Amino acid sequence: MRGPKILVFAGSIRTASFNAKLAALATKELALLNVEVTRISLADFPLPIYDGDTEAQSGPPQNAVKLKRLFGIHHGVFIASPEYNASVTPLLKNTLDWISRVREAPEPPLAAYKRRVFALGAASNGTYGGYRSLIALRHVLELGCGALVLPDQIAVREAATAFDGLDNLRDEASEPAADRARQSRRCGASVCVTERTRERHVAETTAANVKRWIMAKGYWLAQVDVSDAEAYKAYAAAIQDVLRKFGGRYVVRAGRSETMEGKARSRLVTIEFKDYETALGCYRSPEYGRVRKLREHCAQADVVVVEGYDGAQP
Ligand SMILES: Cc1cc2nc3c(=O)[nH]c(=O)nc-3n(C[C@H](O)[C@H](O)[C@H](O)COP(=O)(O)O)c2cc1C
Repeated sequence: MRGPKILVFAGSIRTASFNAKLAALATKELALLNVEVTRISLADFPLPIYDGDTEAQSGPPQNAVKLKRLFGIHHGVFIASPEYNASVTPLLKNTLDWISRVREAPEPPLAAYKRRVFALGAASNGTYGGYRSLIALRHVLELGCGALVLPDQIAVREAATAFDGLDNLRDEASEPAADRARQSRRCGASVCVTERTRERHVAETTAANVKRWIMAKGYWLAQVDVSDAEAYKAYAAAIQDVLRKFGGRYVVRAGRSETMEGKARSRLVTIEFKDYETALGCYRSPEYGRVRKLREHCAQADVVVVEGYDGAQP
């Protein structure tokens, strides 16, 4: 199956930036999950401070256009955001602002922020781990740009000592108990964590949510003529456990319909799965094979398993 593509970058271009380290770690964790990751540095996309006169004279700079297109070819974006005075860095805000101004006809405004998932992390030497910059960044992305931002996020506190020699996050569980107690006193909230498990969790939820929200799903398209309604009820009840096991959900289930062209059977059902492979797997499973037998004598059906579409939209 085609994996999701995720773009990763930090809101800092400082040498030895903690957030660049966090971005590198997220890249590694995502790659281990079979995600196609692109890590960039904003140092390679310098932009002037946004000014409406500059834009009016010459439009958005080429680097803003390049970044917007990079967003566009990825299903998800992970941003490691440093905290400056309880907010995001001017570098990050300026970059996001410029990208929001790029509009390539005939697409709607803010296209770079739509139809993809954003995941956030922060690292700071302070005890809040840059948490407040995540609030500010969420505000900009969700309210300003209409983006979908995952609830899961990571804030790495005491960043100067949080990374080990291999730039992995130290595992708190391996630290002496007294140290752990001291740390949790300093940062009681679950938002400030340094465990690698947490980072892995964020990578996993990012990848899973990108798949869930953005990537092409798989469908059963079924048309059924029922000859024995009572017997069909037994089939409809038995299939529920199978669908639950494979994560299938009804998108269409015998709703009102009018056949406009060609021929259709009387009962139309569409069931959605997280991807095409799962839709096929469910149909071919021994569990469904057993349930299907219940339908054979009480209904006639046409069933197609089809891959969904995640390309450009009108
Ligand atoms: C202007 C400025 C304001 C800052 N304000 C905060 C802050 O509010 N909270 C915080 O945790 N760190 C603050 N810091 C410290 C940064 O978190 C720290 O410099 C961090 O290393 C920046 O991220 P980086 O390592 O990825 O470059 C501030 C730094 C600067 C330069």
